[in-house]
Amino acid sequence: MTRDDSLAPEHVEPLLTGRLGRPYLYAESCDSTQELLGADLPEGALAACDEQTEGRGRLGRSWAAPPGTAILFSLLLRPPPEQVVSELSLVAGTAVAEAVEEAMGLAVQVKWPNDVMLNRRKVAGILAEAADGAVVVGVGLNVNQERGDLPADAKTAVASLYTSDGIKRDRAPLLAAIVSRFEHNYDAWVERGLDGVYDSLGSRDFLRGRRIDVDGESGVGVKIDRDGRFVVDVGGEQRAVESGEIAFER
Ligand code: BTN
Repeated sequence: MTRDDSLAPEHVEPLLTGRLGRPYLYAESCDSTQELLGADLPEGALAACDEQTEGRGRLGRSWAAPPGTAILFSLLLRPPPEQVVSELSLVAGTAVAEAVEEAMGLAVQVKWPNDVMLNRRKVAGILAEAADGAVVVGVGLNVNQERGDLPADAKTAVASLYTSDGIKRDRAPLLAAIVSRFEHNYDAWVERGLDGVYDSLGSRDFLRGRRIDVDGESGVGVKIDRDGRFVVDVGGEQRAVESGEIAFER
């Protein structure tokens, strides 16, 4: 972490232009940013840190990154009750993909339901957890990790932006860009559901056309549908997968 590369408030707050990210809560080190957003905070509250000691991933997994290398944050949201909360991972993933794509000038995809992919490797994961009528959406984006800092045994191959293009980046502007994209996409989703982000999401659908494994059966990815499910073709029959994780053949 260089002196200028920090997620401390003086680096991030001047770059935040919308209503999300306020208040901006920062801890140099914390267990998990998912734990920092109390139910009394308003929608848009954001917690970020430079190190997590007990970072959480989906499906009971952990999420680890050396201090000062990744973007680790959580956002508190209170979507209207009629919205389908599970779609928020796709809304957030699309925002991360758009911001990373703009920063790098490389195509970035969303792997249903919660991964962000660059060159067939996972660079970010999203964790949406509902509690007390609110949803905490956590984002972990691998930015400046070296190859040896990344888990080698993950089911999906993992990369950082640095291992992908050899450029070390300040994280604060990238965090601000993600929050800005997220706000835009979130507002569109609140107004129109997944249709509001579907152009961007559908065009970044990583599993579309790929050979994939569904419950031990081989199939071909068709698309993320407008209800947030993943449609798979298994032997000519189309099935919509509601939740879980889909392995792809590299
Ligand atoms: C996954 O791919 O399994 C989801 C990973 C989510 C990691 C982020 S890092 C910030 C926030 N705090 C956590 O403990 N987890 C999420």
